[in-house]
Amino acid sequence: MRRAVCPGSFDPVTWGHLDVIGRAAQLFDEVVVAVGINPAKQHLFSPEERIEMLREACAAHPQVTVTSFSGLLTAFCQAQSASTIVKGVRGTDDVGYELQMAQMNHAQSGVETVFLPASAAHGFVASSLVREIAGLGGDVSAFVPAPVLARLSARLAERGAQHAAPGDLPG
Ligand code: PNS
Repeated sequence: MRRAVCPGSFDPVTWGHLDVIGRAAQLFDEVVVAVGINPAKQHLFSPEERIEMLREACAAHPQVTVTSFSGLLTAFCQAQSASTIVKGVRGTDDVGYELQMAQMNHAQSGVETVFLPASAAHGFVASSLVREIAGLGGDVSAFVPAPVLARLSARLAERGAQHAAPGDLPG
């Protein structure tokens, strides 16, 4: 049984993430989508909210489970008996950053990383841009599932979108 971990901030999940998760589910018997918890980072959505959105969006894939992790990703992979990390890469900037982490993760634990190139349709989609555009009143309906869009609109309305500067958040 081959189990992979698909980690990320998912703040919020986009169609780009879901494309990678769906393709990973075709390559592995089980995929554990793991929301990274980093208390030092500010997020628009709590880990619980990000997990709920992911579970709803991944409901069509029975072999995909969603949870969170904190601390070292490699320790989480080992605890999950997963020997592979799956990461989507959108371009050379992603590759440069992800390659170093993949090499470090492999050096310290032996856990391998598989890179999936973003589909052309989603290669420009990033949660940070979705937050920024939505926060400035733009239309992001093409980039996230409808339930995520509804939560995004509600959260930005709560915060007063023009003042929240959600694009300043990482991820
Ligand atoms: O979607 P993101 O923000 O690129 O996800 C980043 C995440 C959560 C995958 C990354 O921050 C991570 O792997 N965190 C775990 C901490 C860790 O293992 N650090 C060592 C990296 S070599």
